[in-house]
Amino acid sequence: MNLTLKIWRQRNSNSKGQMKTYKMSNVSPDMSFLEMIDVLNSKIISEGKEDPVAFDHDCREGICGMCSMFINGQAHGPDRLVTTCQLHMRKFKDGDTIVVEPFRANAFPVIKDLVVDRSAFDRIQQAGGFVSVNTSGNTQDANSIPIEKNDADKSFDAATCIGCGACVASCKNASAMLFVSAKVSQYALLPQGKVESKQRVLNMVKQMDDEGFGNCTNTGACEVECPKGISLKNIARMNSEYMTSTLKS
Ligand code: SF4
Ligand code: FES
Repeated sequence: MNLTLKIWRQRNSNSKGQMKTYKMSNVSPDMSFLEMIDVLNSKIISEGKEDPVAFDHDCREGICGMCSMFINGQAHGPDRLVTTCQLHMRKFKDGDTIVVEPFRANAFPVIKDLVVDRSAFDRIQQAGGFVSVNTSGNTQDANSIPIEKNDADKSFDAATCIGCGACVASCKNASAMLFVSAKVSQYALLPQGKVESKQRVLNMVKQMDDEGFGNCTNTGACEVECPKGISLKNIARMNSEYMTSTLKS
């Protein structure tokens, strides 16, 4: 395939960025999107005129959530329920123009080109996304606590969130509610998570607000673009957890 790429280039967080056009020829439909950018970068390096395109990636198998980019106006591109690393060039046609941008949100400042700083998510996790371990010696083994199958399934579904940030980038308010609600829900549904549930939801929501994410207005773009199919029901669960915790405090 022959393609035209329009890619956001930005030297660092302080400089002004711009779209730059690159022509690609002989792109195999079997390449992943990231492999296609690897080929472009080899070409840029061999020409020696500019830096290669900076982009985040790690696992390249849909697990780590690093490969965040906006492709033709959609987080992780045109395919459904896949990350950019799992997107293949067969989803595009010969002659296509593909526009590639970083995830845009005030709370995700651009570091370079397509790389954004998603450490706000780490700080939200640190505010409550864990279960404290009681090491007194009296702790009941988690495996000996029976958990209802429906709750286990819903908790597991919430736990599949990979923290990629597509929900934030797709939301007109740059809201992080889908991400935070997945992290709150995975614990709220389990007996092990209920012990600290009140403080967890209050702390995580406070951190989310402090980081500058917007609020949720129920448009649902986050759910549509989420590569892991995280359900909006988690937001309803988080709101309910939050209300209950506020009334109890
Ligand atoms: S909820 Fe979905 S889109 Fe948002 S961070 Fe988690 S996996 Fe990514
Ligand atoms: S590189 Fe890990 S999810 Fe894409």
